[in-house]
Amino acid sequence: MNTNENKNRIIPPVTAEGEFLQEGRALAEKLGAAFVEEKPDSLCLCLDENGLSLARGETAVSVDFSKLLRRISKSNPLGEMIVKAARIKGKETPSAIDATAGLGEDSFLLAAAGFEVTLCEYNPVICAMLQDGIERAKGITCLSAAAGRMTVYEGNSIEYMASLSKAPDVVVLDPMFPERQKSALIKKKFQLIQQLESPCSGEEELLNAAVNLRPHKIVIKRPLKGAFLAGRKPDYSLAGKAIRYDCFVFAD
Ligand SMILES: C[S@@+](CC[C@H](N)C(=O)[O-])C[C@H]1O[C@@H](n2cnc3c(N)ncnc32)[C@H](O)[C@@H]1O
Repeated sequence: MNTNENKNRIIPPVTAEGEFLQEGRALAEKLGAAFVEEKPDSLCLCLDENGLSLARGETAVSVDFSKLLRRISKSNPLGEMIVKAARIKGKETPSAIDATAGLGEDSFLLAAAGFEVTLCEYNPVICAMLQDGIERAKGITCLSAAAGRMTVYEGNSIEYMASLSKAPDVVVLDPMFPERQKSALIKKKFQLIQQLESPCSGEEELLNAAVNLRPHKIVIKRPLKGAFLAGRKPDYSLAGKAIRYDCFVFAD
């Protein structure tokens, strides 16, 4: 990973105790973070029996795919919009690059629907949480198949996509949207994540990298009334109550 990318990043201290001490210290060293034995009230990464979480006071966020189980069950016959948007007729195990993986929810929904997903995440703290969540999901029967189809790439997806000689079937883009910051309804967990990562400033580069790869489809997640990514009009959009998926389709 480009060290310039890490220059202005907030890397919170890591805290762990008991049987997690050693693992916690190793993580702090890997991230270049301080290790503290007592959990502070300020932003920290906390490693315990529930895995790795980003916490501030009583608020904590971790990657817990079991929370998505209801959404991937058979009682959800209409399926997820991200799956509908990314689906490719006739392909049972399409490949996808989630170029802005974040906490991996979209990737997990795709993996649960049979996609082989490479999750790109350049924020080292978010990436550590993502890897922790995927590893724990691999040990849970009802999540393990989907988790087994998820591979994390730690680094900039623009560089990753430029390095590939073979395009995936789908590229998914969901860069942090500036206007989400102002919303009073913003979820607490995103407020914590926004402590780590500012809104994406390289929209055009990101979209160009995906376009240059020429996947079958590019799917872009936007707020319902949000502007098109990099101002570029998609071929079509699928709109839900709060989210819109803008899709670009490329001929083989
Ligand atoms: C809004 S979040 C994505 C949320 C995700 N779709 C989910 O379902 O959890 C955007 C994430 O993309 C990451 N990101 C933005 N640009 C990136 C890039 N060029 N390469 C890798 N990660 C990137 C940010 O660090 C952030 O974690």
